[in-house]
Amino acid sequence: MSTRTVLITGGAGGIGRFLAESFLAQGDAVVLADLPGEKLTSVGAELGVATVGVDITDPDAVAAAVGQVSKESGPISVLVNNAGILHLHGDVLGLPLADYDTTIRVNILGTFAMTQAVARHMVDAGTRGAIVNISSIGGRQPTPGMGAYETSKAAVDAQTRWAAIELAAHGIRVNAVAPGPVDTPMMRMGMPEGSPMREAWLSRIPLKQMADPVQVAAAAVFLASPGAADITGVSLPVDGGQLLA
Ligand SMILES: NC(=O)c1ccc[n+]([C@@H]2O[C@H](COP(=O)([O-])OP(=O)(O)OC[C@H]3O[C@@H](n4cnc5c(N)ncnc54)[C@H](O)[C@@H]3O)[C@@H](O)[C@H]2O)c1
Repeated sequence: MSTRTVLITGGAGGIGRFLAESFLAQGDAVVLADLPGEKLTSVGAELGVATVGVDITDPDAVAAAVGQVSKESGPISVLVNNAGILHLHGDVLGLPLADYDTTIRVNILGTFAMTQAVARHMVDAGTRGAIVNISSIGGRQPTPGMGAYETSKAAVDAQTRWAAIELAAHGIRVNAVAPGPVDTPMMRMGMPEGSPMREAWLSRIPLKQMADPVQVAAAAVFLASPGAADITGVSLPVDGGQLLA
């Protein structure tokens, strides 16, 4: 099988790095996309992969980035829409509308802009590719104070089904991975072992563990693999059973 080019947005972030390592481990070529800057350059250098600086909310920048990647790294076979904003929280009574707007722009419009640009590129190139969105079980289960983020992820799940049903005609599959809280290095700093906040989350999870980023990446690798050739339009929870509780 020839080497696939896998484009990962938010590639310089906590989960992005694990996604990159997992695709690399099975022989894919990886390109990391993230906001231009030192963080992206240094993660790319550390992993020895190509990078492309792009703000996914800027359609012109997205088109230019997709053009650059396909020129430098060949046709894109897999897009992982992992870039997202997950820190602007607030309750119904207090959330500043500007924060909601930022979350919507990045998580919904940005994900769509990338999907549209890469899907156009795949159709033009005749690539029967795969798109994997990193959603969240928050899109299906509320936590007080996190509704702006959660509604954006519900939209990502809907986008997954929308793109899946239309792009099936081109042989392009679109799925999502929906993690519960993921034990990224940043999460471990903010919620150390034994902290009340970590215990509160764990009490909601039947398997009593947060998702390891490696497990989130493994689900994305599977959904993009030939083994998942008959799967499209699903949002796969990686949540220790939290949605059951
Ligand atoms: N960490 C969790 O517990 C968790 C749980 C469920 C889902 N998720 C989802 O996983 C994904 C990755 O989360 P993470 O924990 O690695 O977060 P993170 O903040 O470490 O990484 C997100 C990355 O997205 C990039 N990004 C933000 N806005 C961008 C833009 N406009 N254009 C390009 N890049 C942009 C950031 O620079 C960052 O590198 C997100 O979509 C998040 O919603 C995370």
